[in-house]
Amino acid sequence: MEKRQRFLPVSFFLFSTLVVLFACPAIGAADDHHPVIPTTARTKRDAREHHRHNGRVKLFVFGDSYVDTGNFEPNNGSWLPPFGRTFPGVPSGRFSDGRVLTDYIADFLGIRTPIAYQQIKAGDGGEQLKSGVNFAYGGTGVVSAISKGPVLGDQISQLGQMIRHRFYNQTDLDNSVALVAASGNDYKYATLKNVTALTRKLIKQQKTDLRRIHDELRIPKIAVLLMEPAGCLPHSAGPSAMHSSKCNEAHNAIVSNHNQLLKQAVHDLNKETTTNNNKKKKNGGTFVILDLFQAFSNALEEHKYHTGSLRYKNPLKPCVTLARGKWPCGLGNDNGGGVRVCKHPELAFFWDCNHPSQNGWNEVYLALQHSLYQLYDA
Ligand SMILES: *[C@@H]1O[C@H](CO)[C@@H](O)[C@H](O)[C@H]1NC(C)=O
Ligand SMILES: *[C@@H]1O[C@H](CO)[C@@H](O)[C@H](O)[C@H]1NC(C)=O
Ligand SMILES: *[C@@H]1O[C@H](CO)[C@@H](O)[C@H](O)[C@H]1NC(C)=O
Repeated sequence: MEKRQRFLPVSFFLFSTLVVLFACPAIGAADDHHPVIPTTARTKRDAREHHRHNGRVKLFVFGDSYVDTGNFEPNNGSWLPPFGRTFPGVPSGRFSDGRVLTDYIADFLGIRTPIAYQQIKAGDGGEQLKSGVNFAYGGTGVVSAISKGPVLGDQISQLGQMIRHRFYNQTDLDNSVALVAASGNDYKYATLKNVTALTRKLIKQQKTDLRRIHDELRIPKIAVLLMEPAGCLPHSAGPSAMHSSKCNEAHNAIVSNHNQLLKQAVHDLNKETTTNNNKKKKNGGTFVILDLFQAFSNALEEHKYHTGSLRYKNPLKPCVTLARGKWPCGLGNDNGGGVRVCKHPELAFFWDCNHPSQNGWNEVYLALQHSLYQLYDA
């Protein structure tokens, strides 16, 4: 609590993708049935028509709660209700009511969602590792974590160790895709005064980490997510998010600078790896940018006009809110006041104050889809 004074005045944290999860004690809402959204079926068919890997590809995922599918610590956060109520129906370690970006990207590649590293069972053989492994852990960042999870570099080392122990050979890795998400947990304690220096430090470290995925792990295609417009997260937009759909533009400007530098780093890495491998540039390079900023922005705009329900028209209004008080975002200190879950998560864009709902991720995925084809030409 004493730390609060140091935070920015508008929201307690500059950005944070995790926070509200600590405020999710069991809720009393009825567990009504939510059908799987129809768009999922459509995208599945698209993926089958186009993918060239024929289910042989493996997906290795590194990052935070935007892509975590079950690594977060048990009996906490995403492992507690109401997370997971749409899919799979119970908490599954995903910071959403249902699927997250990882599930959609695996689907696009024509494979099952890779197993979460923490869920690997000894002696279960190769079958569980067939689609790859997800090392992403909610609350982690590039240099720091606001959870007990490993930072990006340590997640990369986890796969390095598996390779040394021969869980994967070079043929496996040659047919692999990596997905890397760093959505802003590093910025939790930043202030406007030192944010520029922090951004530089983060990009430098992330560049080193990305290089390791190519040089050390020898994965030939690496998808790098730019940061989302963090100023549009309900947490950052603040109480006004409940009534308007106005983003925090100061925060978005910080993200824009971050993304600009990240794009430059990825550009440099592509040059570096093309020269080293003496390959033609035709295949678009090793590193593929997935512009989460643009995808979120497009999806949020779309949402305003096409959601078809007045009540859910404001995309910044989260589905899960604190049951008491004006501030909608849980910080884990709501003293048992509980949370409220909206009636139709399938119509909301945001699940909680930091994370999209399954519906939101589906909309973001559709906006990203055209970039995903770059993952095919290896
Ligand atoms: C849940 O996880 C957070 C982040 O690691 C930690 O701060 C908190 O103490 C945990 N809560 C419980 C009940 O273990
Ligand atoms: C590599 O491992 C796969 C199983 O993951 C196996 O099918 C393949 O034969 C192996 N290739 C080599 C060259 O050892
Ligand atoms: C930025 O400043 C805040 C407050 O002075 C401090 O807590 C934080 O550690 C600083 N962050 C960096 C990366 O220097």
